Amino acid sequence: MLKPPLIKVLEREFRLDWQGMHGAPHWARVRWNGLTLARDTGARADVVECFALLHDSQRINDRRDSHHGHRAGDYAQSINAEYLHLDATGLEMLIYACEYHSEGLMEADVTVQTCWDADRLDLARVGITPDPRRLCTAPARRPAQLRASIAMSLGHGSRAGHVDFEAGSPSGDLPGWSTPDVAGSAHE
Ligand SMILES: [Fe+2]
Repeated sequence: MLKPPLIKVLEREFRLDWQGMHGAPHWARVRWNGLTLARDTGARADVVECFALLHDSQRINDRRDSHHGHRAGDYAQSINAEYLHLDATGLEMLIYACEYHSEGLMEADVTVQTCWDADRLDLARVGITPDPRRLCTAPARRPAQLRASIAMSLGHGSRAGHVDFEAGSPSGDLPGWSTPDVAGSAHE
């Protein structure tokens, strides 16, 4: 379900460091977290994947950028027909998830909650240990999930590290963009 043409556009337009704290490696980990959680939460995987790619894509700095979520929501709306192909319900969930992803909210549709948890599970990269009380879904709070996501965020483990791909040509064997499989489940 990866969208190489969209990734190429995002890499061309991204204003910050592509490999930086809000860049492609983070998006890849959010995607992995989200798709892993979605197996148990029942979240829509297509929305989760779009969220991972877009939620930080419109940042103008790596510090406090309080409108980046709203810009991401607007951007999602503007490219849906060409790149995302979400139905009306999916697009509505994606826009809401992007707009409010950094507000610390907990209550929402489970697909939106899964998007938010996927992002929060990658906080260790900036020195913040994810707080289970601030995670929306039970699967995100599982100790094994927390351990796996934190290890990945810190650059440990088989799915960790620098995502280094040619723009527009990510493939399944690149660690950051691989799709979680059942054997890799983080359940306890
Ligand atoms: Fe993020």
